Amino acid sequence: MEPATFVLFGATGDLAKRKIYPALYQLFIEDKLPSSFSLIGLGRRELSDETFQSNVEQSLLTFSRSGVKDAEGMKKFLRAFRYQVLEVNRKEDYKKLLQMVEEREQSLNLVPNRMFYLSVGPEFFETIAANIHESGLGSANGWKRLVIEKPFGHDLLSARQLNLKLNQAFNETEIYRIDHYLGKPMVQQMGQLLHASLSELDFSSRKIASVQISAIETLGVEERAGYYDHAGAIRDMFQNHMLQLLMMLTIEFPNRSKVDEVGKIKRQIMKSLVPINKMDVHNHIVRGQYGSGVIKGEKVVGYRDESGIASDSQNDTFIAARLQIKDPFWKDTPIYIRTGKRLNEKATKIVIEFTSEGSSKDLLIIEIGPNEAISIQRSEAGKELSNEDIAARSQLNTLEEGAKDAYEILIHDALVGDKTYFAHWDEVELSWEWVQPLLDAYQENLLPLHIYPSGTYGPDESDKLLARDGFHWWFDS
Ligand code: BG6
Repeated sequence: MEPATFVLFGATGDLAKRKIYPALYQLFIEDKLPSSFSLIGLGRRELSDETFQSNVEQSLLTFSRSGVKDAEGMKKFLRAFRYQVLEVNRKEDYKKLLQMVEEREQSLNLVPNRMFYLSVGPEFFETIAANIHESGLGSANGWKRLVIEKPFGHDLLSARQLNLKLNQAFNETEIYRIDHYLGKPMVQQMGQLLHASLSELDFSSRKIASVQISAIETLGVEERAGYYDHAGAIRDMFQNHMLQLLMMLTIEFPNRSKVDEVGKIKRQIMKSLVPINKMDVHNHIVRGQYGSGVIKGEKVVGYRDESGIASDSQNDTFIAARLQIKDPFWKDTPIYIRTGKRLNEKATKIVIEFTSEGSSKDLLIIEIGPNEAISIQRSEAGKELSNEDIAARSQLNTLEEGAKDAYEILIHDALVGDKTYFAHWDEVELSWEWVQPLLDAYQENLLPLHIYPSGTYGPDESDKLLARDGFHWWFDS
């Protein structure tokens, strides 16, 4: 792998501590970092290099998934870390940064390949990208890459504006948009596992009756009121993670996608997603917000009583949707998607229901997290008969090794320049285009907000959405 400098904006933040440092450390242990590597952490706080390194050490001791077994090795890893204060609007700080990057490149004899990782609020993306450009940080001889996290924009218009601004400093080929669902091991291996399972099911003679994609959580808004109350489930999960799951699944049908065509097929899928007119949104979308309730024996407060949330907030913490893809393979198959907070369990899964004669049903279940598995279930008149694991589970990470974290996979891909599992602008734009009428309907109060008790599976209307078509959500207990 080519040598590189990792310039981390937001180096004292939560994501860096919990995810980015442990991921880099894991890559280091596995010999998957460039042999010459320099990391420059940036933040508003004054910190010496030593304090910064010892903070990173703390985060590794707390969050490293395989633990720190070799203290000497860890010290070696930490020696690559430097820190600098940076105020995102202060141009002189970028000049100082350039100096530091160059000094390190010279002393380590590094080719000036630079990865700029923006682990900061999206409101800073434009300013930072412009300053990288103006300061000359982005005009060295090596490659440059910009890594950003969702949300990419707040709606269609702002996403387009943001993209235009970013494009003044970085080309599309240089922008790596992280959607951490694309880094999940089960999503990355979905095609392979799915096709192994379909051959067991003799899929060639079967039809898919419906698809259900759920990402449900027990967590509430936590400490993120400021962000979440303006985003809601629709922007926080649906526009990005959920539509990416939909794309990753549907590109596998009717035939297996070729790696180099993933982007093209994802675009085709998004283009053939039947648009929903804002006046018709109520027929396809259910919107909810959690009330108080009990989760796993513990009482929890309702959304409007959470700290930092207005007592009359109209924000959504749940969305269920019925989608339709207008192509020869999918045209008769409803696709249901739901995601929400403070529900009865934490589970991200896809259930494919096959058409059947009589009352028995065959289901193919893809568990994405926290369990990782593919299985088939046969049920008869609602009764589950058997649960036969058929997928090559051994191809996944075993528990002893610890499942790979999405960040390890994605940071490694970004370092080697593989964009397969990053969100391309075209997909992002097409998903905002599809979601925009929903946002308009929310804004214009065209869709009721249903309060659901915490610890359930969302509002009853979510069940009714499927019942209308003769289906029900599988595995709600
Ligand atoms: C994040 C959302 O992108 O994904 C959070 O901002 C959500 O609100 C999280 O809790 C869920 O991710 P995972 O990997 O736990 O399913």
